[in-house]
Amino acid sequence: MSLILGIESSCDETAAAVVEDGKLLSSVISSQADIHAKYGGVMPEVASRLHVENIGVVLKEAMEKANVGYEDLDAIGFTRGPGLIGSLHAACEAAKALAMLYHKPLVPVHHLAGHIYANEFVDTFEFPLLAVVVSGGNTELVLMEGPLSFKIIGETKDDAVGESFDKVARILGLPYPGGLPIDQHAKKGKAIYDFPSQPLHHIPGTEKYDYSFSYSGLKTAVLNFAEHKRVKGESYSIDDVAMSFEKAAIDPIVERALAAAREFKVRQVVLAGGVSANSYLRAEATKAFEGTGIKLTIPPLWCTTDNAAMITKVAEKLFKAGIVCSLDIDVDPNWQIEDFREF
Ligand code: KG4
Repeated sequence: MSLILGIESSCDETAAAVVEDGKLLSSVISSQADIHAKYGGVMPEVASRLHVENIGVVLKEAMEKANVGYEDLDAIGFTRGPGLIGSLHAACEAAKALAMLYHKPLVPVHHLAGHIYANEFVDTFEFPLLAVVVSGGNTELVLMEGPLSFKIIGETKDDAVGESFDKVARILGLPYPGGLPIDQHAKKGKAIYDFPSQPLHHIPGTEKYDYSFSYSGLKTAVLNFAEHKRVKGESYSIDDVAMSFEKAAIDPIVERALAAAREFKVRQVVLAGGVSANSYLRAEATKAFEGTGIKLTIPPLWCTTDNAAMITKVAEKLFKAGIVCSLDIDVDPNWQIEDFREF
């Protein structure tokens, strides 16, 4: 039996959840998205202040919904990184205070491990497994040879894919966060513009594929396109630009995921992170893996946004594996998933 509280505050969602032996008893999320929308992006200082304001209420609600007391808990998990440093501190300090007061083990959780393991709420994992982690801060292909084993086999060299959705939305005058508005416009558009994509190529001199990504060129291409049209006084269809951009951004993810899944002979592929909500990605990945014999798991939409349920999932596994930390733990905004045991 294990009863775990998880706390998450890495970006602009303050969240707490309680899980008992894998079963979710409660999951509470307070999102600041509407507030940051006014600034066109997350304002780190505002985010940290709001986390501090909200975390008490969120914790209280999560514990009440689960109908448990802090003294009943077996461990307290929290997101140690990656994320915004000020935001991360809110969950870390709350977890430390509770662990100290109630003499509970403290479990530091990697945010992206949380996004990956969110899929376990809907599917069992079969290894080797490939996780396609696509979010506002990360674009990574993560190979898992077994439980709690993470190896990055490809990542972005510059911007994350979610960041490019947000920037392109801004260029097109769409609200923040830009992923959903672009997704909605793209559904009505055609991919008639030739924005630079990223064809898969071999690492020079080898037979191996290069699974890295790059999104800064694509973002600049959309910016130049919009500027050019503006200067010439020409109009364009936002729907068509959204679809053209979306195709250029997502096709390389699907292509790399399929090639990597074959190269590493994985049994399962899971999508993870905010951009895994994208309807074109979900449809294209489904098509790509159909008939391959590789199981594809697409997270339900509630799992794609930041939440603490996914943190409890990983915390439970770490706790059972004896991976806990002391009260002098600090956050790490740049924590690598491969180093999740190092803190
Ligand atoms: O995982 P997440 O909450 O952020 C990090 O933890 O980094 O993901 C947020 C990102 C934002 O960039 C947002 O625009 C994007 O996910 N996003 C989407 C969609 N919904 C959210 N991107 C594309 N299509 C969507 N439907």
